[in-house]
Amino acid sequence: MHASSALDPTLPIGVFDSGVGGLTVLRALREALPHESFVYLGDTARLPYGIKSRESVLRYSVQAADFLHGCGVKSLVIACNTASAVGVDSLRERLSPTPVIGVVEPGAVAACSASGRGHILVAATEGTVRGGAYQRAIARLRPDATVLARACSLFVGLAEEGWTEGVIAAAVAKRYLGELLERDPLIDVLLLGCTHFPMLANTLREVCGSGVAIVDASQTTARLLATQLRKLSIAAPVERLGTVRLLATDGPARFAAVGGRFLGVHVDPQQVELVDLMQ
Ligand code: DGL
Repeated sequence: MHASSALDPTLPIGVFDSGVGGLTVLRALREALPHESFVYLGDTARLPYGIKSRESVLRYSVQAADFLHGCGVKSLVIACNTASAVGVDSLRERLSPTPVIGVVEPGAVAACSASGRGHILVAATEGTVRGGAYQRAIARLRPDATVLARACSLFVGLAEEGWTEGVIAAAVAKRYLGELLERDPLIDVLLLGCTHFPMLANTLREVCGSGVAIVDASQTTARLLATQLRKLSIAAPVERLGTVRLLATDGPARFAAVGGRFLGVHVDPQQVELVDLMQ
């Protein structure tokens, strides 16, 4: 018997990220599963994860996962590519039988299904590109794929600053991606392997041109979560309307101001609870 029979369908789903980026994933999860409740934790005190060592990201991820597990969640979504890339297996083992989903596998699935030619360009953080998790995940699904990967650290700052369109965003995107797009003219998918990058989708579409599909993990993650909840018989009753609880480890006011844009709704600073993962 799967021990998930002990999990209560009315419990919320835990979602965590290094900060506000994962709200782009939460947005997709809410749209796909409006009857589910979510507890979202942004580790804003330690953002960004993308330039930290594997060991630090893993330690931070374990603390975030333990905290949410302690809140009583029926499932956990690691809505951060950098944390998923290093931590999904360890967190799965640690939280078992609570199911854990990362965004790297769903992102790879989205990229492979959108790519006709199998030439995929991955844009992600330094840590995600260095660790090679996307390259491996794509190779598992499509061994003949050609994968190029580029760390685009400045996209994180641009997204938070709200400079997602215009000459500066376009110049940064060209600087990061232009050379690789020229090197492989067969590239037909740009995979956004960082939760902040969907905020720059319009600019990236312009820079890459109409022959390149821009994909991210959020929709496939939502589908995977829905399937998993159904399979484990822990989906919330559909007549319910889900709620969202927002937690941050630093700066509720900034979290609300920047996070509101990522989530696509106004967030009142009062709605954001300050928490300490080290206690
Ligand atoms: N959320 C991170 C990711 O998806 C990006 C921001 C960071 O570097 O912490 O990789």
